[in-house]
Order: sequence, then structure tokens, then C-alpha cells
Amino acid sequence: MSVASQPTAAIILAAGKGTRMKSALPKVMHRIAGRTMVGHVLANLAPLGSASKVVVIAPGMDQVAREVAPLSTAVQHEQLGTGHAVGCAREALGTFNGTVLVLYGDSPFISTATLEALVARRSQADNPAVVVLGMRPADPAKYGRLILDAAGHLDRIVEWKEANAEERAVTLCNSGVMAIDGKALWPLIDRIDNKNAKGEYYLTDIVEFARRDGRSCAVVEAPEGELMGVNSRAELAIAEALYQDQRRLAAMDEGATLIDPKSVFFAADTRLGRDVVIGPNVVFGAGVEVADDVEIRSFCHIEGTKIARGAVIGPFARLRPGAEIGPDAHIGNFVEVKNSIVGAGAKANHLSYLGDADIGAKSNIGAGTITCNYDGYLKARTVIGENAFIGSNSALVAPVRIGDGAIVGAGSVITRDVDADAIAVARGEQVARAGRARDFRAQRQKLKQDKARK
Ligand code: UD1
Ligand code: CA
Repeated sequence: MSVASQPTAAIILAAGKGTRMKSALPKVMHRIAGRTMVGHVLANLAPLGSASKVVVIAPGMDQVAREVAPLSTAVQHEQLGTGHAVGCAREALGTFNGTVLVLYGDSPFISTATLEALVARRSQADNPAVVVLGMRPADPAKYGRLILDAAGHLDRIVEWKEANAEERAVTLCNSGVMAIDGKALWPLIDRIDNKNAKGEYYLTDIVEFARRDGRSCAVVEAPEGELMGVNSRAELAIAEALYQDQRRLAAMDEGATLIDPKSVFFAADTRLGRDVVIGPNVVFGAGVEVADDVEIRSFCHIEGTKIARGAVIGPFARLRPGAEIGPDAHIGNFVEVKNSIVGAGAKANHLSYLGDADIGAKSNIGAGTITCNYDGYLKARTVIGENAFIGSNSALVAPVRIGDGAIVGAGSVITRDVDADAIAVARGEQVARAGRARDFRAQRQKLKQDKARK
């Protein structure tokens, strides 16, 4: 049986107020690489295929409930401590006899491998009631300390506030994450009281109770970086920086060239093919897929977009949700594309807005072309066929269709459909009067002199 297939359930604690964030948003809704913190936790947990997952929230955290739906949430009406928070998930979890993981919604970096290691440790011969994820942070600060017995087994967890000098000197700290025997969980939770320095129900007390019952408990260690919690905006920024560095390395590992990695920002779900070249100062928002051999030049901002093989984007392009850039297409500087399909080999190289448009293969969109997709009330589509040529500074007033092979003269305002292979010119007729400029200058000169004499 593979580790991941052992039956697990998970409780994610997210009811903490996160006062230090100074935010109207629940702490776990703050984003790292475009994904909420609780979203990161759930993404890392997903491969374990847990039978059920419950997110514990505080009253009024409807945004979190919506974010994690269809998972169930349990409301903790007062934040009385981590032990009490776990207790709030009891009903939602139902009867479950496997391994129950307890995670924190504000510790977004815990890896799938680490979670699997915790679950795997639970099924070793000593059948530990509680497996605690430990860490040895550079600064053990005020974390709870993991106290081992002479044989090196976990004996109890002491909170920093209650710890004596000897216990505070212990460098093995409690990350907060645990894997607990589902059969023992609720009786253990019921024994927790709040007679301690903080007046809280400490989840950590269950280790001592389990030991008293003659059960063993264990520690699995993970690197500090995975267990980082976010409590302030400054820590959020540190978390973002750590995550971005990881993503840049992963992108290069998978075969992308990043000319200046530090200046490229990924979203958690960015997907890159091989031999993608990314110039300096490129930002990926959520939902971007990039195929092989694409070049993204400097200063592009891209979200919700699919880019097919061999396309060239930028410099200075903005691709917005619903953009699909076809193979070998070119989107150049100061071109914005939204909810539009750009066909294979099509080009929009300069200064354009393409919104709600279909652009056929090999068509050329001249500099300054605007698809006028919005009349202040409704959006409408512009459909351009294959091998069409749109002259510079044209306005295509949607809904409108330009046929295959059609040409639109520069400076046109196109309000009616253009047939295939037609030329449409919709601009003021040019009028030239021979010698008129010379006459005009003479006339104005005379007028000026007459005025000066008066
Ligand atoms: C807890 C641990 C401590 C550990 C530290 C790691 C306990 C008693 N202490 O301390 O040993 O070193 O985490 O960061 O468990 N939460 C609720 N409801 C509550 C209280 C907390 O949902 O009533 C959630 C918070 O949103 C947070 C997590 O539980 O995600 C941890 O709570 P926090 O108050 O930060 O715990 P610490 O006191 O730091
Ligand atoms: Ca904390």
C-alpha cells in the first residue's frame, strides 16, 4: 500500500484573528503568488486524497468558507486555543478511524512529502497516537518545545510561556502540525483544560495524555522553511520572496531560460513548457499556460492566458484573462489582448487593444488598431478571418466581421462587415487644392501686417 493511500482526514485551523495583519481580510485569505494561504495548504494536502477535510474558521469568515468550498467548514465561536479549535471540527469530521492531520491555514509551505512522512510514521510498529512535526529553527523564539524521553521518543510538548530555563534551551520546536490516531483523538481532546499560563485549550497537551495511557508519540522533523507561519505583512512578503525563488529554480530545472530570474514573478499555477525564454521583468498572474519554444520578452504582464508553441510575446505586452495566443503568433509592444483568440502566425506588433476578438491565422493587425468591444452597456465580438490585413489606426466597432483576405485601409472606422477579399476604407476622403497653401500664407501675412499698422 502506498503511503498516500492510507486513510487520512484533515483539520485545517484558520480561526485565528491574525490581528497583526491589520486587515479586513481573514489572514488565510492573503495571497502568496496569487493563491490564498489556505489554498496553498489545500493544494499541498490534495495528493494525500484525504477522506474528509474540515476548515475551522471564526464567525464571519464567509470568504474563507467560499474559498475552500466544497470542503466543509466548522465555526469556532470563540478562539479558546488550538485544542478547542480541533474540537470544533468533531461533528463535521464524523466518525473516522484513520489518521487525522491537523494543519494550520497560515503555514502555507508544508510539503506533500512531509505530510506523507507524518502519515507513514503513524503506521510504524509502535503505532504512535500522535506524530508531531518538529523543526529546529535558527531562532527558536517562543515556539513550543518538544521534550523527548531518554530513549528519544516524544514525551510532551511544553509551551514557551510555561517552559523553565532548561526546557527553553531545547532547540527542537513544535511546528503545530500533527498526525493523530483518529480512534484516540476525541477522548484526548476531551481531556484538555485551560488551566495554564495563557488560559487556552492547548492541543499540545494531548501528547502527555497519550503517554499516560501508555501510547507512544513520535516526532518527524522538517526544514524550518516549510513550516514558516505568516503573522504580519512583513512575513507575508518574506513568504512571497521564498516562494518566488523556489518557483524560479523549478522553472529553470524544467527547461525554461530566465534571463534575470529575480525579476520574474510566477503565480502558483503558472505552467511553462520547455525552451521557453523569459526576459527580465515579466509578471505572471493566475491561470497562465505557456507551451514549448515561446519567447516572452521583457516587461510583460500575463494572466489567464494560453500561449501556444513558438509564439513571441512583448516586450511590454499585456495579456489578460481569456487570451489564447496561437502557435508562432506575435504580440508586440503596448498590445493588450483580452478574451480573444489570436490564430496561428497572426501578428499584432504595436499599440493595439484586442478585446473580445477572434483573429484568424496569419492576419496582420496594424499599429494602433482598436477593437471597440464595449458600448458602455454590453460587450460585442470582432471576428477577423485568415490572412486579413487591418491598416494602422483602425477602429473596428463590434459586433463586426472582417472576411478572409480582406484589407482595411489605415485610419478606418469599420462599423459594417467587410467581405472576404474586399478592401474597406472608412475615413474622410482626401482633398488636395493645388497652390492653396501658398495663397493662404500670403493672405495671413497681409492680415498680420494690416493689424500691426493700426
Ligand atoms: C502553537 C503551538 C506551539 C507551536 C506554534 C507553532 C499550541 C498550544 N501551541 O502556538 O506549540 O510552537 O503553534 O506556530 O498549539 N487557531 C484557531 N483557533 C484558536 C487558536 C488558534 O483556529 O482558538 C489557529 C490559528 O489560526 C493558527 C493556529 O491555530 O493557524 C495556531 O495558533 P496560534 O495562536 O498561532 O498558536 P501559537 O500560540 O503560536
Ligand atoms: Ca503562531
